[in-house]
Amino acid sequence: MNKPRLYSGMQPSADSLQVGNYIGALMQWRDMQQSYDAFFSVVDLHALTTPNDPAELREKTRRTAAQYIAAGIEPSKSTLYVQSHVSAHAELAWVLSTVTGFGEAGRMTQFKDKSTRYGSDVTSVGLFTYPVLMAADILLYQTDLVPVGDDQKQHVELTRDIAERFNSRYGQTFRVPTPVIQQDTARIYDLQNPTAKMSKSAESDAGVLWLLDDPAKSAKKVMRAVTDSEGSVRYDRENKPGVSNLLVIYAALSGRQIPAIEDEYAGRGYGDFKKGLAEVVVNEFGPVRERALELLDDPAELDRVLAHNATKAETVANKTLGDVYDKVGL
Ligand code: ADP
Ligand code: NA
Repeated sequence: MNKPRLYSGMQPSADSLQVGNYIGALMQWRDMQQSYDAFFSVVDLHALTTPNDPAELREKTRRTAAQYIAAGIEPSKSTLYVQSHVSAHAELAWVLSTVTGFGEAGRMTQFKDKSTRYGSDVTSVGLFTYPVLMAADILLYQTDLVPVGDDQKQHVELTRDIAERFNSRYGQTFRVPTPVIQQDTARIYDLQNPTAKMSKSAESDAGVLWLLDDPAKSAKKVMRAVTDSEGSVRYDRENKPGVSNLLVIYAALSGRQIPAIEDEYAGRGYGDFKKGLAEVVVNEFGPVRERALELLDDPAELDRVLAHNATKAETVANKTLGDVYDKVGL
């Protein structure tokens, strides 16, 4: 029997990924690639919805792909590719945009948030139709499961609606995907502002742990993380968001349970706890960083791997696109 298909991706929006991307996405992708036929893309077409320097965008795309591999996504097992290398994404997005309601797209809360933040000069039509491109990404591969963060849930629901509408209008064409929403314990917050999600596009990076940062720098950021005045290492999201966030990171990266970590640091101060966490962070990220830098040292080989995987993706994508063109009369 064929393995169920899984699709996920990330925008190449920074030089380095952050610990939230690692715990909330990459670690889970790494596990899931064993039991699923997984497609992981670096969604560079999506990145065009925010202003970018062309040379920097190309470099961020390569760096993001290198970090996928360094974090354990195996390009021989999973289809790890760059979105723009497969032209079917943009082509299917156009067709899907003609079966998406203008009002329906207008209800996407991420567009409302982002367009408010960017202002009318930066807000493009592409930002508005972003969820339609995302629907194309997913539907091209006849995807069963889409692991996403909370913030993308509405987009996957739109994807399902578009798929169902297309299927009922033109006959069975797309598999209707199911979102896998990230667990609360996989959500990481900013170390300086522990009620805000850690993000690679945060305005200040003082509270962001970068995968590719110098380990000493990451250790320092951990030591400076915001805590509270209570002094006990205890998980309590509501009243102790800083310490709780550090506990979640500690547990995820060490593979231990939160109560065991609380016990280990019972009666000891935050300084000890942070030192312990800094060690865990350095141990986990050190090898990932080295591997990523090695891959980036040989761009020709990395490009070869990505080109090979794009061909694999294209075979699947073009089959769906051909069917779609047939059905709609192109
Ligand atoms: P960012 O905010 O860093 O730009 P994206 O929105 O591009 O991240 O998300 C890429 C992936 O990483 C998604 O699967 C998302 O759920 C996950 N992710 C991003 N930030 C976090 C976080 N702080 N905690 C857990 N997962 C996260
Ligand atoms: Na982002």
